[in-house]
Amino acid sequence: MVDSVYRTRSLGVAAVGLPDQYADGKAAKVWQLYIGDTRSRTEEYRSWVVSLLKQHGCQRVLDVACGTGVDSIMLVEEGFKVVSVDASDKMLKYALKARWERRKEPAFDQWVIEEANWLTLSDDVEKPGSGFDAVICLGNSFAHLPDFKGDQSDQKLALQNIASMVRPGGILIIDHRNYDYILETGRAPPGKNIYYKSDLTQDISTSVLWVNSKPHMITLDYTVQVPHPEGQQSTPELSKFRLSYYPHRLENFKEILREAFSGKCEQSVYGDFKSYTPGQAQAPCYFIHVVKKNP
Ligand SMILES: C[S@@+](CC[C@H](N)C(=O)[O-])C[C@H]1O[C@@H](n2cnc3c(N)ncnc32)[C@H](O)[C@@H]1O
Repeated sequence: MVDSVYRTRSLGVAAVGLPDQYADGKAAKVWQLYIGDTRSRTEEYRSWVVSLLKQHGCQRVLDVACGTGVDSIMLVEEGFKVVSVDASDKMLKYALKARWERRKEPAFDQWVIEEANWLTLSDDVEKPGSGFDAVICLGNSFAHLPDFKGDQSDQKLALQNIASMVRPGGILIIDHRNYDYILETGRAPPGKNIYYKSDLTQDISTSVLWVNSKPHMITLDYTVQVPHPEGQQSTPELSKFRLSYYPHRLENFKEILREAFSGKCEQSVYGDFKSYTPGQAQAPCYFIHVVKKNP
């Protein structure tokens, strides 16, 4: 897989981003191919996430960026009561299909899937009592939220809404790519990507948009090979889609997370699901934040 980088400067905010980057259905259509084998993806962290949730006595989990449902399905299979939401109906379509196909399994019959946006989460999601035992936002999803106003106010609002869904004593698990490394070196950290491991990914080219000398947006252009149905000999089709991300710096993200909980929380940071020490030799590809709301 090639990971090429070029830099663009000051194109202006109007040229950046879309409310639902998945609206044309292109990414949604090939997302499963991009993730690769979902079993092997989830095996990587199934035991980490499941033991963390069990350690905190969690039963009711809200997945606020369920996409096609990969993490939610893993949690439903593990016996958690899951509510899954996402802003993109194109992505939700695949989660709904998975639930329909397994509707005869009681756990899947009870799996709740809704459309919701982090910016209006409290209106879109019914909070059970004082909240969910755990909220998850994984797969570099939160970085999709842009900062059009330049003051991170939308991101802060979204994090407050997400934090409000966690019951006192409950936890939030939220991640982002190691953008510090990407911005410093112009490329993703070496080592395997813990989430996306498809052999079918041909290329991901990365561009960084700078506004007023600050990194404002990272755009990834993906090329994924779509195999033909068995028996067809013609050249495989290439599917191309583009996704944009806000490059969250680790220290800043810790700070805005803390603010979202009004400082009443305990925070831990992991690198690729292992304990993380700043400056460690192997830079992680992803940072995973676990925030426990004070009871
Ligand atoms: C990178 S995908 C990851 C999906 C899934 N967690 C996974 O790992 O496969 C990011 C998801 O975040 C969703 N998303 C982006 N902005 C959102 C918002 N403001 N509110 C709710 N969902 C949003 C997108 O629709 C998309 O399905």
